[in-house]
Amino acid sequence: MELETYAQIKTKVKKLLDLNLDHYKDEQMRRRLDSWLVRNGAKTWDEYFIRISKDPKELSRFRDYLTINVSSFFRDPERWQSLKETVIPKLFKEARQRNPQNPTLNIWSAGCSIGPEPYTLAMLLDDVSAYHNHNILATDFDKGALAKAQNRGPYTAEEVQNLTASQKLNYLQPGGPPYYVAEKIAKRVKFKEHNLLSDPFPQNLDLIVCRNVVIYFTGETKDILYRKFRDALRMGGILFVGATEIVPRPSEIGLKGSGISFYEKV
Ligand SMILES: C[S@@+](CC[C@H](N)C(=O)[O-])C[C@H]1O[C@@H](n2cnc3c(N)ncnc32)[C@H](O)[C@@H]1O
Repeated sequence: MELETYAQIKTKVKKLLDLNLDHYKDEQMRRRLDSWLVRNGAKTWDEYFIRISKDPKELSRFRDYLTINVSSFFRDPERWQSLKETVIPKLFKEARQRNPQNPTLNIWSAGCSIGPEPYTLAMLLDDVSAYHNHNILATDFDKGALAKAQNRGPYTAEEVQNLTASQKLNYLQPGGPPYYVAEKIAKRVKFKEHNLLSDPFPQNLDLIVCRNVVIYFTGETKDILYRKFRDALRMGGILFVGATEIVPRPSEIGLKGSGISFYEKV
């Protein structure tokens, strides 16, 4: 795709979807746009934009595609195991030192997509009954994804495949596929619309889970976001990133690597 065409598409996408593609990796985005046009049988971008400006459903499909909201429960299970065995006990120990009567963890799932990530957190914390005091805030800027998350599903067999038989029994509604998350898990999560590029971040957090989101942004935007995550954590708080992500030179921004995929604010 020509750079000029890409510039025009960015302007249109900003206007129609309020999505600023300047923050997303150029080459990857251009490739994705090219293949989307072919897949949707439109000859030109002008033709496609006229079509979607009259069709809210198609507009929402296009947004879903651009923001890539693939997710699943216990994605990269061994990382969640480390969270459960090492990170959560450390955070609760510190919370207990700060407030012995009511040790509470404040957790943010940023870029939560259709919900499996914050629901995984709620399930994991429910598995360990000593950790019942926690607040889980889950945010995304994609309204469609959030609506599915708040509806507790439906989720495919593939999306729930990392749940054990007893987790399925305990934490999903009977029946399925498609699957729905049980009410007792859903009520532990508060969902909210939030744009990482323009909205203020929540503060004083013990744990930020931001996985497979920052990966699509330019280096410069990533750097700004990692600093904002650091600011949003309390001292000793942990940032949990995706399996293929690393924070470059963490010590320069006041973070310390703490096992694969975890960074502690120091
Ligand atoms: C691939 S999903 C990751 C979902 C989940 N964190 C996981 O790892 O399974 C990426 C999510 O990032 C969200 N996202 C992309 N840009 C965003 C932004 N600027 N603000 C908030 N969310 C954003 C998308 O809407 C999408 O739901």
